Amino acid sequence: MNTVIKIVALSILFSSLLLSCSETGKQLEEDNLLAINNQSVNEDKVLSLLKTNCFNCHNPDMGESRVAPPLFKVREHYYDEETTKEEFVVAIINFINNPTEENSIMPGAVRNFGLMPKMSFKEEDIQLIAEYLYDNDVSSDEWYAKWEGFKKSPASTQTDLSYEDLGRNIVNETKSNIGKNLMKAVKERGVAGAVEFCNTRAIPITDSMAVVLNTKVKRVSDKPRNPINTANSEEIAYIDGWRKAKANGEKYPPKVTEMENKMVGYYPIEINQTCLKCHGIPEKQINTETLANIKKLYPNDKATGYAEGDIRGIFVVEMDKK
Ligand code: HEC
Ligand code: HEC
Repeated sequence: MNTVIKIVALSILFSSLLLSCSETGKQLEEDNLLAINNQSVNEDKVLSLLKTNCFNCHNPDMGESRVAPPLFKVREHYYDEETTKEEFVVAIINFINNPTEENSIMPGAVRNFGLMPKMSFKEEDIQLIAEYLYDNDVSSDEWYAKWEGFKKSPASTQTDLSYEDLGRNIVNETKSNIGKNLMKAVKERGVAGAVEFCNTRAIPITDSMAVVLNTKVKRVSDKPRNPINTANSEEIAYIDGWRKAKANGEKYPPKVTEMENKMVGYYPIEINQTCLKCHGIPEKQINTETLANIKKLYPNDKATGYAEGDIRGIFVVEMDKK
């Protein structure tokens, strides 16, 4: 097949996975933004956020095949002399909250890589990242030198994080890794062929602090697709508690407890439009071919019928005590 046609066909296929339902994502208004931070923040903290949330796909280093443009390319499209910091930050956050073709200003990137999957990030984190991208030329030699330095000594920068934040870093790194694997698989094999890639077990945890703390990550659900991901009674209690809190419009923050001399963090997993092609309504959102592959691999699948915003399950992160 002619390459151009092939790329177009693949990106249509891919964006149809991601654009599976009407766009309900919120638009951020400038007045809703947390106050823009003009003081210099701890740079290591932002580099660590970038590494765990963005660089799995927007890898600043060469080599390894690309699944997304490097962030300096993104910055070039969003930034010019006239753009204020507020405008820049709002535009970036709006795209991340609602990655659609209409919101994209990089049609070439969408064509080459397929649309960025929707992930859920902590709003304060993406604001810090967006502010940092406005303030720093991430294509400069100076920046690359800092990044090289950070890569060599990352463990020390995380020792002062709480267990909750450490666990969240691991969860985010795992999520963005799953996102990357799914994106690649959908591009190469289509949705039905990507079925086996929504899987955490093959994902190595490379975050250095996670390695130091001997971290283990699993994902469990009360309605599992793979029976080995079945939540135990304690985990189901967390899931039920969060669902209730959510239904009442209350907050449902992660929980950290101490168990047998280990620290264990629990983090809710929510469904967004990216997930519906494989966890939504059978025959409506999940097509026949995908459904057939799911049934073949997971004859006892319970993980369908979800809607956007539903709590799908829970990330469990086990860490040694510091
Ligand atoms: C799972 C892979 C993945 C992760 C993780 C990811 N992105 Fe992306 N992102 C992409 C892809 C692919 C594109 C290019 C296609 C597009 O523009 O949608 C992209 C494009 C973008 C764009 C340009 C949007 C446009 O088209 O106008 C912005 C801004 C962006 N990403 C920010 C971020 C930030 C900030 C993070 C970390 C918080 C992040 N991304 C994490 C895959 C990812
Ligand atoms: C291409 C199809 C596909 C997509 C898209 C997809 N999943 Fe999955 N999901 C699966 C498969 C297959 C499994 C079983 C993996 C395994 O064997 O561990 C799974 C397992 C899971 C599990 C582990 C518990 C269980 O049921 O076994 C969670 C949690 C989960 N998915 C959440 C999500 C979320 C959240 C999204 C969207 C961000 C998503 N999935 C997108 C196919 C998909």
